[in-house]
Amino acid sequence: MRSALAVIVAFMLLTPLAGAYQVPERGMVYQVMVDRFYDGNASNNGPFYDPSMSNYRLYWGGDIEGLTKKLDYIASLGVSMIWVSPLNDNINRMASSSAPYHGYWTRDYKRIEEHFGTWEDFRELVEEAEKRGICIIVGYVPNHAGPATDGEFGSIYDNGTFITHYYEDAKNATRNPYTGSVDGIYHHNGNINDWFGFQLKYANLFGLADFNQLNPWVDSYLTEGALLFADSGACGFRIDAVKHMDLGWLESFYLRLYSKGPLFIYGEYYSLSPDKTDDLYELYRYSNVSPVLNIPIRESIVRTFALFGGLDALSEELEDYYSLFTYPNKQLNFLDSHDLVRFLNAAGRKDRVERFHMALALTMTLPGIPVIYYGDESYLVSGDGKGDPYNRPMMVFNNTTEAAHIIRTLAELRKTNDALAFGDFKTLYSDYNTWAFERTFGSHKIFVVMNKGAPRNLTVPLDWDAGTYRDALSGAGMRVVGGKASLELPRNSFYVFHAEEEQGEPLIGSVTPYTAQPGQRVLIGGAGFGSSGRVIIGGVEARVISWNSTEILVEVPEVKTRKAWLDVVVETGGKASDPAKLRYYSGNDVPVLLVVNATNITGQLWIRGSLPELAEPRPLLKSPTGHYFTVVPLPNGTTFEVELYRGLRWEGLEPVNVTLYGFVNSTTVVLGKNPVEMPGETPSETEPPERGWDWVIILLAAGVLLAVIWKWKGS
Ligand code: NOJ
Ligand code: CA
Repeated sequence: MRSALAVIVAFMLLTPLAGAYQVPERGMVYQVMVDRFYDGNASNNGPFYDPSMSNYRLYWGGDIEGLTKKLDYIASLGVSMIWVSPLNDNINRMASSSAPYHGYWTRDYKRIEEHFGTWEDFRELVEEAEKRGICIIVGYVPNHAGPATDGEFGSIYDNGTFITHYYEDAKNATRNPYTGSVDGIYHHNGNINDWFGFQLKYANLFGLADFNQLNPWVDSYLTEGALLFADSGACGFRIDAVKHMDLGWLESFYLRLYSKGPLFIYGEYYSLSPDKTDDLYELYRYSNVSPVLNIPIRESIVRTFALFGGLDALSEELEDYYSLFTYPNKQLNFLDSHDLVRFLNAAGRKDRVERFHMALALTMTLPGIPVIYYGDESYLVSGDGKGDPYNRPMMVFNNTTEAAHIIRTLAELRKTNDALAFGDFKTLYSDYNTWAFERTFGSHKIFVVMNKGAPRNLTVPLDWDAGTYRDALSGAGMRVVGGKASLELPRNSFYVFHAEEEQGEPLIGSVTPYTAQPGQRVLIGGAGFGSSGRVIIGGVEARVISWNSTEILVEVPEVKTRKAWLDVVVETGGKASDPAKLRYYSGNDVPVLLVVNATNITGQLWIRGSLPELAEPRPLLKSPTGHYFTVVPLPNGTTFEVELYRGLRWEGLEPVNVTLYGFVNSTTVVLGKNPVEMPGETPSETEPPERGWDWVIILLAAGVLLAVIWKWKGS
């Protein structure tokens, strides 16, 4: 009897929680820095604890138990997802005169930081949050461990077992002949100082020990660490510093996490301007591998409301920005964060609180999922300073403010009005001080109007039924007559009008995640789905797991295709939806290091190939040793062809008329001759090009095209 009980208890501990997967666009994220939120257990506060809360670089006592105790408060704001700062075990020493209270200096990816609690505390947080309709998104930091030359010198542990530190690892590191990177568990290529190309990914970010994710141990370790959170019920991840890792590794990492369910994963790609690009920025923006925080447009929004700037210019910039994405509504909008100066600290204006309300309401109504930084609802700012670390004061709880009213009202409206969740984005009127935009999704509509200048009247064409509409925030009225809306707009006013009718035909708003491989479950959000029907993905019927009028959970079928994006169609009641897009991967993908041995060649090279993974051009990086390379997730055991391109931008790519071949296996891939046509031979030489290009000749002279798969386990 006792052993049966033990088995049941063990089973309960091992069985993953169902997880409160959600259609993220219908929700809102509340960002919490755990140490600065609420102290729920005073026994875990030390060491490096400052009870006076005056030294911003020490622990102040916040923990997972504290967060759980405050879930009712968070739920009162209409929140559906909480993004917690990284919870993994961090270094036990000070570095750069700071304790790792922020959670970004990990020493053990299998353990929870003792200042924050235990795995049991985390599971309790997930369960209690789920009872309130909230799910937990975990900050995860796979780019780097702690500081390499300070603190614990990049010491890393596997569930308590010491593995190595940065100096010990350096002794065993070797130079990869293709990437030129000096690799062990970490990269040993110094600090990033040119912020471009190779260094961006293969050198230490601000002196933090940069992981070599192509090392099989590192790859498994980082993946297992993240899976522990997914198995404990996390519904998603905020991945730190995606700009500093190989995109192909991230893709294969995400695919393995998605095997747990329709997680919501988004990245932090730090870039203050939408115009600045590094070699892979274009790829992130265009290939839509995962949503990212909208850092570039955040700058413009804050400047326009906190300082100066025209709403007409802002509206154009935002429309351009959103047009870059297949799923702009899955991108994340925010005003404040732990990295940037809080709006109220940035604004020097007398009317800064009114302007903050406007910017907050805009964040909640633009395309994209709103992220509210803890304390925005209570006007939290520090009197001691502005940016990091002063943008992380101890939380002040107050959910009775005007800011809290704006957040709560618009968060609740997002749950019922799909124009906020999935709608398009169309400016109907704009000038320096006034902006009116409409968003529509089927029979759901919203109309947003704001004025930051002198009081005025506005009449705008609006194709809504005649009648009087009420603003969701203040109850102000708008009359629509003959396809025209007339409004009175006081200074610093912000109105959100909405209309909802029943959706008669199936309409897809989103697919979560929108990158998928066969067997993986994806959540389709939309309207008019009825109570049953069929889902067709890439022409193949998908197995339906659950179905209601606004959400369908399906399993992605295997599709014979070379395309990157597949159509997803919902059929119900004899009607079919317009297709939505799904970024398809063949399955059984492993991260492959593809190398083009093309020394002496200058310029930007790209490859495109015969598998879905290679269907969109991928830029090649140039190594310090002169090779071109990239990391790509490819299906193990598959032959493939790639073509080379040259150019700077997607639109400007020129084909080079060279076809190269490969075979993905668990050791090495050599590209040259088609391994299918020449069984038994070792492919080595490239085929001659049809026409002469100087650099192709150099390429041939350089000899061979090589691709090396890094998964050398067992070889
Ligand atoms: C971005 C995080 O948001 C920031 O707070 C952190 O210090 C760096 N990445 C390094 O992890
Ligand atoms: Ca890196």
